[in-house]
Amino acid sequence: MRYLSLAGSLCLAIATAALAAQPPASVQKGRRFFAQCVSCHSMDGSAGVGPTLLGVFGRKSGAATGFGYSPAMKGAGIVWNDAALDSFLRAPQRFLPRNKMPYAGMANEQDRRDVIAYLKAAK
Ligand code: HEC
Repeated sequence: MRYLSLAGSLCLAIATAALAAQPPASVQKGRRFFAQCVSCHSMDGSAGVGPTLLGVFGRKSGAATGFGYSPAMKGAGIVWNDAALDSFLRAPQRFLPRNKMPYAGMANEQDRRDVIAYLKAAK
């Protein structure tokens, strides 16, 4: 029994170390990565090929003014928090079928965390 609880604490220690090893999200790296988004998304409030992403964090999906969203995005009723943005950016069509964002997705988890940190900071 004693041995088992020791093994348990060891596992916990290893898991904690693994978590700590994940680098914190970087606003600066996110800003650089945002270069992949700027052809469609502004950060100055103006609509382009896509809606402005200024203030998108914490906002409801399909709610930026001056942009014609797809019915899918308009009706989704998502609030763009960390979890929703992460799922959407990983695989836009899987997360929200029939949305019209022509972007395949970001496979790298750290890249997604960085971009989300940037979106949050640019609020
Ligand atoms: C080729 C153009 C294009 C690129 C590149 C692109 N997007 Fe989009 N994005 C769109 C369009 C168009 C929509 C609206 C989708 C709809 O109405 O279904 C959208 C919607 C969004 C939304 C939802 C906005 C809202 O107001 O609900 C987010 C968040 C988003 N994009 C983030 C990103 C990020 C972050 C990147 C870069 C990693 C990116 N997009 C790259 C065109 C693009």
